[in-house]
Amino acid sequence: MSSIWQNNKLLRKWEKQHFKKNVNGDFNYNLAYPLEDPLVNAISNYINVKKDYIYVGAGISQFISAIVGLKEWENIILPDIEFSLYKRTALLNDKKVVYVKGIDSEEFINNLKKIKSSDKDLLCISSPRWFNGEIFTKKQIRKILEIYKGTLIIDEAYVDYSNNEKGMIDICLENDRVIIFRSFSKKFLASGYRTGYMVTTKNIDGLRNTIIPPHSVSSYSENFFISLLKDNKILKAFDDTREYIKNNRDLIYNSLKNLNGIKIIKSASNFISILFKDNELMNEIYDSLSDLAGIQKFDEVVPFIKIWINNEKFSQEIIKRIKEKII
Ligand SMILES: Cc1ncc(COP(=O)(O)O)c(C=O)c1O
Repeated sequence: MSSIWQNNKLLRKWEKQHFKKNVNGDFNYNLAYPLEDPLVNAISNYINVKKDYIYVGAGISQFISAIVGLKEWENIILPDIEFSLYKRTALLNDKKVVYVKGIDSEEFINNLKKIKSSDKDLLCISSPRWFNGEIFTKKQIRKILEIYKGTLIIDEAYVDYSNNEKGMIDICLENDRVIIFRSFSKKFLASGYRTGYMVTTKNIDGLRNTIIPPHSVSSYSENFFISLLKDNKILKAFDDTREYIKNNRDLIYNSLKNLNGIKIIKSASNFISILFKDNELMNEIYDSLSDLAGIQKFDEVVPFIKIWINNEKFSQEIIKRIKEKII
């Protein structure tokens, strides 16, 4: 599957021009003053948050590795279906992991209430959720902070496909128990550039200077996103692309939501998941879709198929094939 960066003429031209500008033989990138990192400043302007609260890193993956592994956490609390790097990092660091069940966000919150927590715990959730694209509301996040006593990571890798791109930044700025992870991987469909950022007012000893030094991001990626965040034409091209993806995602949701035998939760992400009661129907539908790009099946807690949204023709094809199997 070719990417938007290859298909969109404006982006292709911009990237080529940018590449030329960036090939200048200056590979030095070793900032003595991390807060002077130009990408920290560019993100600070872009999201209108003080640079003191912003950290850049090599994608959310680096933040997961750095933060989940910190020695100060007693328990790592995770939804029982979550982006697998959280669990892997916790186990690698010999952490005690507590799993919370919940196919939807309300069920998750009800189960979280039953867990006794302390200020030494770390709870990690994605919103929109990695598993089904469901987004937690502000009311729900406030509720979580009420019933849970520890630090909360909200992984907003997919937030730009929701109807609230500001996500939980305001809650994060008013509560130092909250850490937000953001990524340019999904926002600009550029995961290969390995760039993301973290927002928190929490003070973690040595975090900026020793754990997440700015030189974890390559100078090429730094320059690339600094230019991109300043370029309104390119930003608009991405807004339009994301709107298009959102429409094609909702087309699938609206066409399949009333079908028997499958469960589909409204997604606020660039994918949509279909949940099944058993493996048999899942495998049958997966087999009928597996020649298409961007189809994944999982059997974690519930069997589900994740569909990465593409163009309208793709959505129509998905709808047609699934209806053929079910009706
Ligand atoms: C919920 C979630 N968080 C983080 C990541 C990784 O993001 P990055 O490319 O910024 O490391 C992914 C990638 O699939 C993801 O689904």
